[in-house]
Amino acid sequence: MNTRNILVTNALPFANGPIHLGHMLGYIQADIWVRFQRMQGHTVHYVCADDTHGTAIMLGAEKADLTPEQYIAGVQVEHHRDFQRFYVDFDIFHSTHSDENRRLASLIYERCQQGGAISTRSIAQLFDPERKMFLADRFIKGQCPKCKAEDQYGDNCEVCASTYAASDLINPRSTISGATPVLQESVHYFFRLPLFADMLKEWTRSGVLVPSVANKMSEWLQAGLQEWDISRDAPYFGFEIPGAPGKYFYVWLDAPIGYMASFEKLCAEQGLDFGAYWNEGVSTELWHFIGKDIVNFHALFWPALLQVSGFRKPTAINVNGMLTINGLKMSKSRGTFITADTYFANLNPEYLRYYFAAKLASNPDDLDLNLEDFTLRVNADLVGKVVNIASRCAGFINKNFDGLLSATDAEPGLTAEFQRAATELAEHYDAREYGKAMRQIMALADKANAWIAEQQPWTLSKAAPQSSDVQNICSVGLNLFRLLMIYLKPVLPKMAQQVEQFLQIPAMQWSHAASLLSGHRIGTFTPLMTRVDPAGIAAMLEASQGSLATVAEPPSAAIAASPLAKEPITAEIEFPDFAKVDLRVVKILHAEHVEGADKLLKLTLDLGVDDKGHNVQRTVFSGIKSAYRPEDLIGKHTVLVANLKARKMKFGWSEGMILAAGDGKDIFLIAPHEGAVAGTRVT
Ligand code: MSP
Ligand code: ZN
Repeated sequence: MNTRNILVTNALPFANGPIHLGHMLGYIQADIWVRFQRMQGHTVHYVCADDTHGTAIMLGAEKADLTPEQYIAGVQVEHHRDFQRFYVDFDIFHSTHSDENRRLASLIYERCQQGGAISTRSIAQLFDPERKMFLADRFIKGQCPKCKAEDQYGDNCEVCASTYAASDLINPRSTISGATPVLQESVHYFFRLPLFADMLKEWTRSGVLVPSVANKMSEWLQAGLQEWDISRDAPYFGFEIPGAPGKYFYVWLDAPIGYMASFEKLCAEQGLDFGAYWNEGVSTELWHFIGKDIVNFHALFWPALLQVSGFRKPTAINVNGMLTINGLKMSKSRGTFITADTYFANLNPEYLRYYFAAKLASNPDDLDLNLEDFTLRVNADLVGKVVNIASRCAGFINKNFDGLLSATDAEPGLTAEFQRAATELAEHYDAREYGKAMRQIMALADKANAWIAEQQPWTLSKAAPQSSDVQNICSVGLNLFRLLMIYLKPVLPKMAQQVEQFLQIPAMQWSHAASLLSGHRIGTFTPLMTRVDPAGIAAMLEASQGSLATVAEPPSAAIAASPLAKEPITAEIEFPDFAKVDLRVVKILHAEHVEGADKLLKLTLDLGVDDKGHNVQRTVFSGIKSAYRPEDLIGKHTVLVANLKARKMKFGWSEGMILAAGDGKDIFLIAPHEGAVAGTRVT
């Protein structure tokens, strides 16, 4: 087999928010592929970085009272921690705000200039006279020019769905300062993308994209390409354009160059050859893994930039679809915005890796994380099928045979069938058809379990504990288990490592499937994976509800270390948005523990008397168990979000949510001053 040399990149996450489960989909997909290729004996370099430039990050830093450099340093620590927790095993997690990236961005820009691919012209744009900055559409609001709806964003109306230019808004204002923006001219730099139309038509059809994505590209290419505005005026957090004082590269210009920059840093660290992966004409492979919302940047702008600056183009671009949770788009207000950190606090990351793998294909179809299905699938497949094989067999070998496996294979037909599967499974992995691979692996697991059930080693063992039949059966079972774990290792790296310890074998490689363990001594079996804890799911959802107590992220390392330590304030809202929240004083009538829930208390709340003279009560589940004993809460007053849609939780319906302050460690219930009565509105 030829050894492949592959450079794999993952989309660079923006450094202005936490990693969430939607992000994780693409990172886990890439990581599985990387691990699989490495198990094949190929050389893979796997790089990523934070995408640190742009207005959003500049403003985020400002709100947090930090310099952009401090702000992105804190986020980088958190992002890297989250990837490690989910076993996403980058060789380097760098930053686009690096010396390497500054140098490479300048170099590529200069080569674009030399190649005649840069043009300049003056354009008029809305400008905030107070903040002295140009405003992107999303920082301008006003009245819709068509339907006159208030409070619409700069480019489209959410009420009548019309699109327009920000300068057409009636009574526009800057969402940053509130000032009325004025039209102002400024010179912008453009990348002349239309020059590359023919190359792109051919390239996007050359097998670098799956057909459905290539078709989408064709639609865009047919519609015609525009020159791409690659400059932004100061103030902007980014790299100043060489020879253009006060002009900065637009974040999306230097972001993909961040792939090269990260690899360059890795080359310096590990003594690798940068040119071997980036020079035109090399035979090494370059694979980008990205989500489908950023395909235009990777399949149009990026190859054009690479071509004109004399670098190689990608071998392939793998595109993932968008993640939904219980059928809903990820959204903070719906409680479906689950951060990697919140997931990790409650559930095993390998569950998620398996669930994603089971549902992933090479096509960028959207993928739903249905938490009920997730629980059933993980429990049935990993615990009920795979781990079950080992737990049924290991005890006998450990106890009655001093850990020694038989020297002969008692069921060569079956073991050979499992070994033969290696070829087809490898094809599925290589083609990013993980769902197919998982189904085939689980079908084999079913066969193994059925065979063991037929053999009944437990019955034989009762009659004759030392019988070689028992040893033979359990040795076959453990060999089948080992083969399945080789095949699952790209998806379940941590469990595979535990299995290597248990079986006392070296790190499993794909080629190891060609041989079996015979006359080999294994270690003691310890439980490899437990069932999904429903309380963990409930607590994760509870923690993801948009309550004041839980929506803010814990402060990052760098932020916490800063004397200006402060939680970043979340995006600004208008008064009418706030006024939609109906907050009421309530009295806690009753509080109790919830069987099986680690974090929840069940509260019965008194909302006072309604207009018909009826007493109104509500039942609410609240994640405050760590901070309060039920008996201490009874009779206390607190504040309830009274018009929050009821949510069905594992333990029953929660009719609203009470407010608490929290920093991830302590929790403080919010209470009105003495004398407030139940039912009073909080404004
Ligand atoms: N910074 C850019 C990428 C620059 S690459 C040179 C960016 N960042 S992001 O943080 O918004 O997204 C990072 C990755 O996560 C992207 O591949 C994006 O498509 C993906 N996803 C973000 N939300 C997602 C879902 N809800 N579902 C699936 N993937 C998602 O884009
Ligand atoms: Zn409108």
